[in-house]
Amino acid sequence: MTLPRFPDLSSRTALVTGGAEGIGRAIVEAFATQGTTVAFLDLNATLGEALASDLVAAGARVVFHSVDLREVGATQEAIRALAADLGPFSICVNNAGHDERHRFDEVTEAYWDDRFAVNLRPMMFVSQGVAPGMRALGGGAIVNVGSTSWIQGAPGLIAYTTAKSAVIGFTRSLARELGPDGIRVNCVTPGWVMTERQRKMWWTPEKWAAAEARQSIKGEILPEDIAAMVLFLSSDAARRCTGQNYIVDAGVV
Ligand SMILES: NC(=O)c1ccc[n+]([C@@H]2O[C@H](COP(=O)([O-])OP(=O)(O)OC[C@H]3O[C@@H](n4cnc5c(N)ncnc54)[C@H](O)[C@@H]3O)[C@@H](O)[C@H]2O)c1
Repeated sequence: MTLPRFPDLSSRTALVTGGAEGIGRAIVEAFATQGTTVAFLDLNATLGEALASDLVAAGARVVFHSVDLREVGATQEAIRALAADLGPFSICVNNAGHDERHRFDEVTEAYWDDRFAVNLRPMMFVSQGVAPGMRALGGGAIVNVGSTSWIQGAPGLIAYTTAKSAVIGFTRSLARELGPDGIRVNCVTPGWVMTERQRKMWWTPEKWAAAEARQSIKGEILPEDIAAMVLFLSSDAARRCTGQNYIVDAGVV
């Protein structure tokens, strides 16, 4: 698909978490295409470095930093170092997440905490890391990535769905916290998006047929479809949008 252009994004600096693969990768590429300066964080150093060097070779301003977002101190230190190099971030996309399956009866306290440390906690502390810079700039946009899995009551990943449901509450409260500083906070909630990981781990002809039957409009949802919504919410075109949840699921929930 051809992404729309948002001219104001060419003078912005964006931070994207989990940008090495999947939806995050599409978001990094989409910002790069807009001329946005992009820094992205990811656990996967091999894929992250390869993506950054490809985009830089194509003329984009892109920087990768490898970090495990479960390490709050290291993550905030990385954000400080990147902002010192690139200038403060006016856009932050809290995208990283992991939908590892687990059985309800086997969830331990440590596993539950770890799933929240991956799927929810970074949103809080990455936002805390970028907020001072956004205040200094006079405003900014934070976009948090949720999931329709909890709305559907999907079984087999209760720690993930519970953490993802909290993204909405976090978004609404943070929008109130940061609104007076001109910082908008929104949530994008994807349906089933055909990333490489989803195709490899979960896609079967039967599952896809069942999923597509539930969609009001037919056809796969691609990472670029989520990136398009993220671009819009990050841009001045969305200057009166905050505290909201935007579902991109082809009309399932
Ligand atoms: N693909 C879907 O169908 C779908 C549906 C709904 C919501 N989502 C959400 O979209 C977001 C992106 O998902 P995706 O499908 O692109 O996943 P993905 O697994 O393809 O990519 C996730 C990226 O995040 C990184 N990451 C994971 N844990 C990390 C950590 N602790 N520290 C640093 N980086 C880490 C991974 O290395 C990877 O590059 C997630 O928040 C996910 O919950 C995805």
